[in-house]
Amino acid sequence: APEAQGCPISDPAAMAREFDAFQGPYQLDPAEALRWSRDQLPVFYAPKLGYWVVSRYDDIKSVFRDAILFSPRNVLEKITPATQEAQEILKSYDYGMARTMVNEDEPAHMVRRRALLDHFMPEKLEQQQDMVRRLTREKMDAFIDSGRVDLIDGMLYEVPLLVALHFLGVPEDEIATLKTFTLAHSVNTWGKPSDQKQIEVAHDVGRFWQYAGEIIEKMRAQPEGTGWMHHTIRMNAEIPEVVTDSYVHSMMMAIIVAAHETTSLASANMFKTLLAHRDAWNDICADPTLIPNAVEECLRYAGSTVAWRRQTTAPTTLNGVDLPEGAKLLIVQASGNQDERHFEGGDTLDIYRDNAIDHLTFGYGAHQCMGKNIGRMEMRIFLEEVTRRLPHLRLADQEFVYMPNTSFRGPDELWVEWDPAQNPERADA
Ligand code: HEM
Repeated sequence: APEAQGCPISDPAAMAREFDAFQGPYQLDPAEALRWSRDQLPVFYAPKLGYWVVSRYDDIKSVFRDAILFSPRNVLEKITPATQEAQEILKSYDYGMARTMVNEDEPAHMVRRRALLDHFMPEKLEQQQDMVRRLTREKMDAFIDSGRVDLIDGMLYEVPLLVALHFLGVPEDEIATLKTFTLAHSVNTWGKPSDQKQIEVAHDVGRFWQYAGEIIEKMRAQPEGTGWMHHTIRMNAEIPEVVTDSYVHSMMMAIIVAAHETTSLASANMFKTLLAHRDAWNDICADPTLIPNAVEECLRYAGSTVAWRRQTTAPTTLNGVDLPEGAKLLIVQASGNQDERHFEGGDTLDIYRDNAIDHLTFGYGAHQCMGKNIGRMEMRIFLEEVTRRLPHLRLADQEFVYMPNTSFRGPDELWVEWDPAQNPERADA
């Protein structure tokens, strides 16, 4: 009988002991997998991971709020330590990923963030909108008569990548190479590669690092270039003590993932979610003014960054639990985002929800995502274009596959179908 074996559901200590971030319930549905924790043990130590897991909305927010006590210094650390062999491979490429922005401590972080904030201002983003819409339409034109497509391959992978490269001012010539690289970077940082896989990943990460260095050199040769990384490179010349060489190189590598993977995955999750909630989809098709809040609700209900990290700089307590100095925290936004204590009926999708925007998918506080309005804008335009041109779209039968990792979530493929004869624009023609 379950009682005799110590039923894990009723024994939070056993649930904590068994918590596995790389397989099982957490990989299937991180918010649901931590329901027991939200209800019974909202801060717990997970020995298999070596991290303290934080699952309630208010606790996650208070961790985000205090970036001094809860330092972001471990945000880009390999969650699965590198094997000796992998370390040596990385060394052979002079790999030196250090502080970017997201993992930089104060006071260096805020000075740098302020120096580099300008490009993210809403009025600067206006100009990007037309490009996003044009790229989206071009991608849709290519598949609109086919009746079936993997939406990620057909659109959601490449458009955010092109938008990111354009925003950064990075040349667009090596998109295929970048795909291998960004995947390797994600596995390397948030995944659990086998010893064998670590070797392969280390080579790709090493090459990515060198490639980032080469891009910077190319960009330095164009002092008048436009885009955020060109601006960064100019600031590096102007205020090298704030925008350091190490920062520029590390950021060049990290930003491609930060600006691209996050948005592609969030967009894929959004379409998957809305197509599985047909009433919500139909409401949006009938009334596109619902789109901005639907985007926010999808970021809450099925965001792409499901867990982030922090490390304590002094002993402290969190929701009554004592944490030592140096404690590593996995703060699970996906769980906080469905916390009943903050979101009524948090485990259901409601595109009319009035506090959807409170979600933690972009983080919170001093490090909150600088690109959040770019990501939102892309998601809004994708939804506007697809609901207008393919309102009869439906999910195809399929098994969804996710790359096992703690933090980035979205299916590898998203197959959708429709009857091209019913495309509204054929009737319009
Ligand atoms: C930081 C998520 C899109 C650039 C972050 C953080 C998260 C995040 C969770 C850490 C926040 C914290 O520690 O409080 C996302 C999601 C996106 C997205 C879910 C899309 C849906 C973008 C885009 C860009 C970008 C498009 C750039 C064009 C950054 C930067 C930071 C950051 C520079 C570091 C900010 C700092 O530490 O001060 N993002 N991001 N992100 N993101 Fe995003």
